[in-house]
Amino acid sequence: MTTVALVGGSGGIGAALLSLLSVRENISAIHSTYYRSPAAGSLGSIGQFGATASIVWSQVDITDEASVKQWLEGIGSFDWLINCAGFLHDINTKPEKTVAQLNPANFNRNMSINCLPNLLLAKYAHASLKQADKGVFASLTAKVGSIEDNRLGGWYSYRASKAAANMVLKTLSIEWARSAPNVRVVALHPGTTDTKLSAPFQANVKQENLFSTEKAAGMLLEQIEQLHQHPSGRFIAYDGEELPW
Ligand SMILES: NC(=O)c1ccc[n+]([C@@H]2O[C@H](COP(=O)([O-])OP(=O)(O)OC[C@H]3O[C@@H](n4cnc5c(N)ncnc54)[C@H](OP(=O)(O)O)[C@@H]3O)[C@@H](O)[C@H]2O)c1
Repeated sequence: MTTVALVGGSGGIGAALLSLLSVRENISAIHSTYYRSPAAGSLGSIGQFGATASIVWSQVDITDEASVKQWLEGIGSFDWLINCAGFLHDINTKPEKTVAQLNPANFNRNMSINCLPNLLLAKYAHASLKQADKGVFASLTAKVGSIEDNRLGGWYSYRASKAAANMVLKTLSIEWARSAPNVRVVALHPGTTDTKLSAPFQANVKQENLFSTEKAAGMLLEQIEQLHQHPSGRFIAYDGEELPW
């Protein structure tokens, strides 16, 4: 049976993934984080109807080392870690169209939420994951983090933070090939998915290219379940396509 540490189960894609995981026969427990969204009300009811896995919510600030350490050490043993947390915009912060719009605080915020937590999570997940039979360390980055695929420009801070996240995941896969060879490390692109993160930027997205959270989560879970058929250290999309770094 598999125990999952799910980061950002309160988000759009994370909540849909939590729902799917909670009814999988091979999943016994899910330890899910939220940060600002309360784990009560609708969140608390996720998985109550027909869920076969137990769900434990914790409030964790993934930019804070002590918070990550306390959460992961408190879980005990787990087999998969899936990071669905991320940041693109808020009421005060919009992704840059030009370099003239660059704001250092925004840049640092993107880096501290989209990149750094992957390292903090890895630091405190290693002890548990290296003992898993078929371990997984999967993080949602984004295709816009691909340097080679960058054709449109813009979004400096978000793109840089996702490219940096890809780099730390690739580097981690090399280290863990030695110290935790049973773990597959992967950077996942979910596709453009209808969540509050993408909401202001959906106008030019064709309907068929805008996934519901259920569809994106289903495709991502399919990829996660197949990870042990492949080497570690890949950057792949929801449909399994290998993406250029
Ligand atoms: N949606 C898309 O089209 C799309 C496309 C490509 C890549 N992605 C990536 O996929 C991931 C999930 O995106 P989404 O659309 O589901 O986003 P979302 O609905 O905005 O959810 C974001 C999640 O991140 C959590 N979070 C933010 N800051 C945090 C912090 N400091 N500590 C702990 N948790 C924190 C939020 O928790 P609280 O709400 O509880 O604060 C929430 O669970 C992100 O990495 C995003 O960049 C999304």
